[in-house]
Amino acid sequence: HPNLLLVATIAYVIGSIPFGLILTALGGGGDIRQIGSGNIGATNVLRTGRKGLAAATLLLDALKGALAVFLALRFGGGPPSLAMAVAAVSVVVGHCFPVWLGFRGGKGVATGLGTIWVLCWPVGVACCVVWLAVARISRISSAGALSAFLVAPILMVVVLGRGASSPIPVATFLIALLIWVRHYSNIVRLLTGNEPRVNAKTKSS
Ligand code: G3P
Repeated sequence: HPNLLLVATIAYVIGSIPFGLILTALGGGGDIRQIGSGNIGATNVLRTGRKGLAAATLLLDALKGALAVFLALRFGGGPPSLAMAVAAVSVVVGHCFPVWLGFRGGKGVATGLGTIWVLCWPVGVACCVVWLAVARISRISSAGALSAFLVAPILMVVVLGRGASSPIPVATFLIALLIWVRHYSNIVRLLTGNEPRVNAKTKSS
């Protein structure tokens, strides 16, 4: 389907804008890939001690996810849920594997949450609550993210009904799978008790 290819390409390009890298460099913080975990996401920007830039990274990375799905809904053509699903997966793939950075991008959490807000906002609310609650209680950002994307596909099926093979729950499952795979090193550190806590991280940087 030519439209879906266009939707996927536009979403990928939107997703591939590395806001964490750009904002940190513009703020005089150097190359975020040389700091902390080396990730280009908001959690790692926070390790530079610049809370404002971390918040802006979180917001802009989420907004690009939301924008890609919104554009697909508005202009995608065909069944809207299929175009939205394709855009959602593509924008997260763009964030995780940006062509401009040799396909070495982020972990997809903020961008994935942004897509979910537009795919089905009640699930977006629930995922953000889980993410913030677990991250706050554990003080480990990745634990919050992994929890949110464990429940996301399940909630999507629950909220959107039994049509589990419909595009939106399938897209949510694929995004969650990608996010879990991208957190491989975080999962290893969590299992071995070596994952840094947010407080310790900001103080040490
Ligand atoms: O959302 C990204 C976060 O879950 C992990 O980031 O930098 O601790 O690997 P980081």
